[in-house]
This record gives sequence, structure tokens and C-alpha cells, in this order.
Amino acid sequence: MKNFTICILPGDGIGPEIMGQALKILKTVEKIYELKINLFSGVIGGIAIDLYNTPLPEATLKLCLNCNAILLGSVGGPKWDKLSPAKRPERGGLLKLRKELGLYANLRPVMLLNSLENISPLSFKENSGKIDLITVRELSSGIYFGEPKKISNNIGIDTMIYREDEIKKIAEIAFKIALKRRKKVCSVDKANVLNSSVLWRKTVSDVSKKYPTVKTEHLYIDNAAMQLILNPSRFDVILASNLFGDIISDESAALTNSLGMLPSASLGDKINLFEPAGGSAPDIAGKNIANPIAQILSVAMMFEYSYGRKDISDHIYTSVKHLIEKNIRTIDIRSDIKNPVSTETFGDLICEEMFKNS
Ligand code: IPM
Ligand code: MN
Repeated sequence: MKNFTICILPGDGIGPEIMGQALKILKTVEKIYELKINLFSGVIGGIAIDLYNTPLPEATLKLCLNCNAILLGSVGGPKWDKLSPAKRPERGGLLKLRKELGLYANLRPVMLLNSLENISPLSFKENSGKIDLITVRELSSGIYFGEPKKISNNIGIDTMIYREDEIKKIAEIAFKIALKRRKKVCSVDKANVLNSSVLWRKTVSDVSKKYPTVKTEHLYIDNAAMQLILNPSRFDVILASNLFGDIISDESAALTNSLGMLPSASLGDKINLFEPAGGSAPDIAGKNIANPIAQILSVAMMFEYSYGRKDISDHIYTSVKHLIEKNIRTIDIRSDIKNPVSTETFGDLICEEMFKNS
């Protein structure tokens, strides 16, 4: 695909600040690779509620449909927490957008860089192995969307529902990704309790037969959460439903030292969306201290998954890695460095590093 037409949705909280750094990266890519990138921007989440009284204005949805990739910051914050659940930035904005665009597969890769091993919340022992895994999370079904979903007569109801075809579709993605990696899929479920998980396990088993070179295992989600702490290097691809994937991907990000380092790609049949997995972090918004890495690596994922430009993606990844190795870090990364850099400075330095490596 030669035409780069990208919709920018900064959203709320730290969204605009970290998106600002992503935009610098796009400018840098334009220069180094002599490309023309067309950008359009829209509003989503709390800011859209303030301006247009809805978290996902029609105009934003239309704009997204006219672009070939979407870069999103984050949505939500305490200001809008009192609204009814369906009108809040998360459900009425982000989840509605995911559903409308049919974004069914959410990829969340984590890698613990050597230079950060000694400060990981897990104390790494010799031979503990490397952490290099990806969560493949089903994104448009499950308990997030199942009906009935309501609160009435003091009863809150959510419905966990999976159809066989939905499970097959996400499982296929996980196995295809595993073929390009270390060829291991760990599917997580709660098949000892939940019917949707019994079907999940059976369907994933059926799909796995098409991929005999991939080693498949099934773990209950509680056990998987524990194994991820005890022995993270055993994992390659973690395949999970919407809710379990949400939880386990945050846990996996914490292993790398900060949720601010976890990018994500949400894939649909036509259009893809890229966003940090960490949320809007309202407590640190506006302070120029947020870690922009997740947003920047989401740009990298966009070049790989939406435009087939693994070269640009690798270039961005390598530059981030170099900066971290040089002890240039934002304050959230647990470390003993004396002078953490600001969001803006980190963005500028990444661009410099990209020029150096080009
Ligand atoms: C994520 C977030 C969202 C989710 C929220 C903001 C709706 O936690 O992308 O992981 O639960 O999917
Ligand atoms: Mn989450």
C-alpha cells in the first residue's frame, strides 16, 4: 500500500502529549524515507463529550472509515466517570469504535530489553531466560459486548459469549503469528468453570491441528497469570479472550518495567487501529512526564501491519532500544537514573537517533 492516510485521535489524559511525540516520528519517517503521509485528526472520548456531547461523534467515525490506519492516544478520566456506563469515553467511545470497525484481533507484544533486566519487578536469576512474548487478544466479542448487558433492579448483568467462528478467527491469527516466532501458542481460558471457555478450548484445539509444527498448550487463566510471574520466558504467543487478554497483557507489560512501554495493534478486515495499551493516566496528564514509548512503538506496529514496512518498524524499534540502553528514560521506568527525561525530550531524542541510524 503506497498511500499513507492516517487518522489521528489523541483523546484524553496523556493522549495528546504522547501523540505529539508520535507525530514527530511520522515527520522523521517522511524525511528519512522520502514519503508523503496524509494526516487527519478527530476527537474521541471525554473531549468529544465536552465538545459534542457524545464520546464517538459521527464525523470521527466517518473520518476513520476514510483512512487506512488509525493512531489513537487514550480515552477516559475522572471527569467523565459519573456518566452512565454506556455514555462513558471507554464504552461509548473506544469500545464502540472497535466494534464499528470490526477490530477483532488485538496484538500486544512485550520484550524485556537486556539493559532493563536488572530493574524488572521480577528479580532475574541466571538462566531465567528472555522475555519475548505477544498477547493475541480477541477484541470485538466476549463479555465486553455480550447481551444482555445491563443494570436493573439492583442486578448488574454481563454476558460472556463466544461463537465458534469468532474463536476460530482469532485462533488462526495466533497460530499464524506463532509460525513467524518460536512456534508456541498458549491458549488461556477458564474451561473448568465457564461454558464459553469449554467451546474456546475445543475450537482452539481443532484449529491447532492445522498447525502441526506449533506446540499448543492450554492453561487456565489463573494458572497462566501465576506462570507469567514464575517463568515468563516459557511464553511465546498467548491467545486469550477479550477480558482475559486485557488482564494478562497488563501483567505482561509490567514485566518490562512499565505499562508505558506496551504498544498494540487492533486488526480488522479493512482497517487497523494502533494505540498504547496503558490508558489515559489522568494523574500524570499535562505534566510532560508520561512515557511516549508505547505510542511510538504503536507507530512502528502501524508501519509493519498496515503498510508492510517492516524496515521502518525495525528502524523505530531499534532507535527506542538504543535510547534505553543509553539510560535515556522517562521517570516511570523503575530505575536509578538521576535525570529522567521529559516526554517531549524523549520524543526529540528518538527522532535524532532515527536520523543517526538512517
Ligand atoms: C485496553 C483498555 C480498554 C479495554 C478500556 C479503556 C476500555 O483497558 O485497551 O486494554 O478494557 O479494552
Ligand atoms: Mn486494558
